Amino acid sequence: PRVAFVLGTRPEIIKLSPLIRACHRREIQHTVVHTGQHYSESLDTVFFDQLELPAPDHNLAVGSGTHSEQTAEMILGIAEVLSDEQPTDVIVQGDTNSALAGAIAASKRNTALGHVEAGLRSFDREMPEEINRILADHAADSLFAPTGEAARLLEAEGIDADRITVTGNTIVDAVSQNLELATRKSTILEEYDLEPAEFYLLTAHREENVDDPDRFAGILGGVGEFARRTDRTVLYPIHPRARENLAAFDLSIPPSVRLVDPLGFLDFLVLESSARLVITDSGGVQEETCILQTPCLTVRDTTERPETIDVGANRLVGTESSTILAGADEMVSRDGSWSNPFGDGTAAEQIVDSLL
Ligand code: UD1
Ligand code: UDP
Repeated sequence: PRVAFVLGTRPEIIKLSPLIRACHRREIQHTVVHTGQHYSESLDTVFFDQLELPAPDHNLAVGSGTHSEQTAEMILGIAEVLSDEQPTDVIVQGDTNSALAGAIAASKRNTALGHVEAGLRSFDREMPEEINRILADHAADSLFAPTGEAARLLEAEGIDADRITVTGNTIVDAVSQNLELATRKSTILEEYDLEPAEFYLLTAHREENVDDPDRFAGILGGVGEFARRTDRTVLYPIHPRARENLAAFDLSIPPSVRLVDPLGFLDFLVLESSARLVITDSGGVQEETCILQTPCLTVRDTTERPETIDVGANRLVGTESSTILAGADEMVSRDGSWSNPFGDGTAAEQIVDSLL
């Protein structure tokens, strides 16, 4: 095979890194097409460096824009690369506009399309990610589902069972390949003067939360108040989208919440595994906390990762301060003895096997 990986954002770089490295190790011809959806150093190159990935072969430098502009420009750019490179397989991951654009460009030229992390559903069609993942799944020839539940959801939508393989999620591979190195190399706890199990970690960046002043204020208020009552600090590595909106809405930051720039993967893994409680609206962070045995509170109304709730690692609390406080009270003393529902860390090898 000749494989083209299409990626564009922080989570795609992280979750495709085990696959790209496996192709390299097994001497499978491959090319990496970066759409340029993420371009800030802290959302982009830091991950190529830390995950020891070569620089992308192509960077379309599409940048930010409306959903339509961004997706359309990516489709055109990817189509051109595919026509030059003539890959046999295109691989996309997840639910971003980059993944959707890769899926459309591949399907227009009849190149085999593989979708990594197939079958996730929040059942909230207002989320741009929900439409992206449904479209990518239905366009794909090979669907790599992280869990049995995801595979069942795909079959329920009429997708042929022969196209679906349950592999686990490549985030387990990425965590297990990097945790030891992270623990050895990262000095983030010392840098921010944090004691293990004595601080909280927050990430919030999702459009439906941080583009809405009431929801964003509810999250900051609830998390800030919980930290004040329990006399601990919240560290919030803040995504640029959220940073811009904080200023635009002129929201006040509770004194217990400490904002820092987005962090590299190694530092972030150490924080996730040492935090007493993680509060997030991120998809990947719900998975990682579950894998790392740290309790998680999800500040959303729905989740496409219900497995984390079923095993007792996560709770959905919405964005009202009162429900955040009640959820945090309950989750903060969970002991992390659940089992990981996302596979055994061989997802990337299984996906590469299926390409051969
Ligand atoms: C995108 C994904 C989201 C994913 C997230 C991962 C879509 C629809 N959304 O959201 O599913 O969870 O990535 O982090 O694909 N910006 C920068 N620097 C950058 C990139 C963005 O400053 O490198 C700022 C710009 O102001 C931009 C805003 O962030 O307008 C939003 O960026 P965009 O890529 O559109 O969406 P994300 O919120 O990052
Ligand atoms: N992450 C990181 N540094 C940070 C915040 C997150 O390395 O400051 C990593 C995190 O470990 C996870 C991924 O980014 O693997 C999640 O990305 P994000 O929350 O942006 O996107 P989502 O998973 O919600 O699509």
